[in-house]
Amino acid sequence: MARADFPAPGSIAGTISANAARLSEALNAHMRNSFQPESRKTLRKFHPAEVAELTGLSMSNLRTRHQEGDFPEVETDSRGRRLYSAAEIDQIRHVMARTGRNGEAYLPGRRAGDGLQVISVVNFKGGSSKTTTAIHLAQRYALRGYRVLAIDMDPQASLTTMFGYRPEIEFAETGTIYDALRYDDPVPLAQVIRKTYFHNLDLCPAGLLLSEYETETAYALQHRVEPPFTQRLAIALDEVEAQYDLVLIDCPPQLGFTTMSALLASTGLLINVVPSMLDVASMAQFLEMAGEIVRTLEESAGPTDWRFLKFLISRYEPTDVPQAQMAGFLRSILLDQVLMTPMLKSTAISDAGMTQQTIYELDPTHVVRKTLERILESVNGAADELEAVIQAAWGRNV
Ligand SMILES: Nc1ncnc2c1ncn2[C@@H]1O[C@H](COP(=O)(O)OP(=O)(O)OP(=O)(O)O)[C@@H](O)[C@H]1O
Ligand SMILES: [Mg+2]
Repeated sequence: MARADFPAPGSIAGTISANAARLSEALNAHMRNSFQPESRKTLRKFHPAEVAELTGLSMSNLRTRHQEGDFPEVETDSRGRRLYSAAEIDQIRHVMARTGRNGEAYLPGRRAGDGLQVISVVNFKGGSSKTTTAIHLAQRYALRGYRVLAIDMDPQASLTTMFGYRPEIEFAETGTIYDALRYDDPVPLAQVIRKTYFHNLDLCPAGLLLSEYETETAYALQHRVEPPFTQRLAIALDEVEAQYDLVLIDCPPQLGFTTMSALLASTGLLINVVPSMLDVASMAQFLEMAGEIVRTLEESAGPTDWRFLKFLISRYEPTDVPQAQMAGFLRSILLDQVLMTPMLKSTAISDAGMTQQTIYELDPTHVVRKTLERILESVNGAADELEAVIQAAWGRNV
């Protein structure tokens, strides 16, 4: 392999810029080939077995109701099997809510008096699967019939990228959560929220400019600019809250003002933890710092609205003995705060991630069935457990 000569003193900055330009160009080429921009991204259709799993209807009931003409007629594939769009699945839910026995159960979202649930996916360890978890949960809940808003609170904007955007091009100047949070002439949150190709799922994008929020908040605190960072996201969310059941916030791997703004607007926290010694040690530090900061803030800003704190064991490899031991250790200490179902490490997630897809977007016929089934069981299992926690926050048992 060719080796660069030692650079002349002072020339590294130029090299960094040159690398950035080359990478950006190569990425553009890669994305043009392998990846659909948001405007072209579409959501695949779903098979009857998936519809049954998502709605709680039995397959036979689904068939009968079609024969009786209760449900909208949908596309069929070459073998005559029905294929449903996410919007059609939602229509079926509404028909069931009107006509089914125990119809209400088909609509899992908020009812009169239920508060908006805002869940931050957080940890300051980089790469602990926060963004992967946030997008999978957001999509799973949208498919389950909740109205979901996903907020990207990370200037790296990985969540925004997963939706098919090129944040460094499309959101370099404006159009992100930063615009709604900034101290100088903020815009209403609704102005930066985008509908997505995913039914029931809206996105509030991020971009690099969001990193300005850290320095601007430090300045605003000194000059007592109102409202303070402790309230800014909650106030912004108030304007749109009636349109959603759930908000999922993808936090950056730091514990700065951006993360704190997300935490203080939340009603629940989900902490990803990879069961390795270094990750657990890092998380312990995170918890200690977060606890201390929040206690101090509570003295001036009042108590948080947190109803739950859950830990999700992430990128788990059950055959890795040290990992299994560390997972057991976590459970022995954190008890039922740890979700029973871990999120497994899977090539389905890492492969799909290369083309900005989730396991819900993958066409099941394009993936090894066993691989997909295994990871779906894991991610759905964790999502379902958290869904029960959300329902419990609304006073319902599922
Ligand atoms: N369960 C999994 N199986 C396989 N790969 C995974 C899994 N979870 C995450 N990854 C991969 O690991 C990488 C990091 O994941 P992700 O971006 O979700 O972490 P993160 O905590 O959001 O990182 P950051 O701290 O930088 O925001 C990604 O390439 C992702 O595809
Ligand atoms: Mg991330």
